[in-house]
Amino acid sequence: MDADAASFANRVLNWYQRYGRHDLPWQRQDAYRVWLSEIMLQQTQVGTVIPYYQNFIKRFPNIKQLADADIDEVLQHWQGLGYYARARNLHQAARIVRDQHKGRFPQSFDAVAALPGVGRSTAGAILSFAFDQRWPILDGNVKRVLARCFRVPGWYGQSDTMKQLWYLAESVTPAEQAPDFNQAMMDIGSMVCLKSKPKCEACPLKEICSSYRHHSQAEYPQKKPARVKPHKHTLMLLHRHADQVLLWRRPPSGIWGGLWSLPEVDAEPAIELWQQSFLSMTQLPNKIQESVIRHQFTHYSLDISLAIIEMEQLPHKIFDQDNYVWVGIEALGDHGLPTPVRKLLASLQD
Ligand code: ADE
Repeated sequence: MDADAASFANRVLNWYQRYGRHDLPWQRQDAYRVWLSEIMLQQTQVGTVIPYYQNFIKRFPNIKQLADADIDEVLQHWQGLGYYARARNLHQAARIVRDQHKGRFPQSFDAVAALPGVGRSTAGAILSFAFDQRWPILDGNVKRVLARCFRVPGWYGQSDTMKQLWYLAESVTPAEQAPDFNQAMMDIGSMVCLKSKPKCEACPLKEICSSYRHHSQAEYPQKKPARVKPHKHTLMLLHRHADQVLLWRRPPSGIWGGLWSLPEVDAEPAIELWQQSFLSMTQLPNKIQESVIRHQFTHYSLDISLAIIEMEQLPHKIFDQDNYVWVGIEALGDHGLPTPVRKLLASLQD
């Protein structure tokens, strides 16, 4: 280990003595408890995990009890933690340990990493915490500490970046006290090297942190450049008769699945399509308002234009009575409408 790596490890270990977490309920426990805690902590913060962990351990005090349990009961004890694949994997892994490892939690890296739900970092954490082995870890918090300290270029989705981060994690992990070091790195990541507004003045690495020296903490870890969101357009049809409007129930899948909305024609050749679809109503729009609302979805933005059709009289019949309904303006609140549609309708009443 070179001097820089030794200095890194010493700073982290000294910090840990004074400021790190030493009293978590799964610390200095058997491998089953350590493993369970690491799985629960994968997407969830310590404070949330603790009561779930304690409740789970009460019902499933050892790996055999977990393996022998019914999956439904396991899921029930996971309820509220989210990411339920973790609970399924945990249960499956417990059965693998029962059936293939004689009920004893394996101690080799390959065997641990082969368990469902256990990746390279989790395997390292379990083996270091439970068996005092020297393995590097690289969870979200540790990635951020290393990416900042060494100004690692690129983002986590890039294999070169991940290679470099693993190489650094491997290099800075000391031969002795790997468990304390690993816990400390997680603690620094979650308590000091925060995503935004990191507490650099309290950081044991500030003298050697390249981002700190260059005032570039905000630039690391680097983000994948955001792709420009595609724009989509739609034309919504507002059929009005007296104080009634025509609603359409959206198909069960897709955006706003199953909600009531306005009948809609996708974008460009909208008017022609509208004529084709709504010929039975025999009336052209009185007024078209362009781009009344822009709604942001995660993956695209949607410009909604509005065609207002004032109907002199109601059509004799509605062709699809299950999915179209005339509703009084005052009764709109009784129907589940997508937010932008609700806003749009509200804005017309002003
Ligand atoms: N996140 C994952 N493992 C953790 C641990 N052992 N302590 C705190 N946060 C964690």
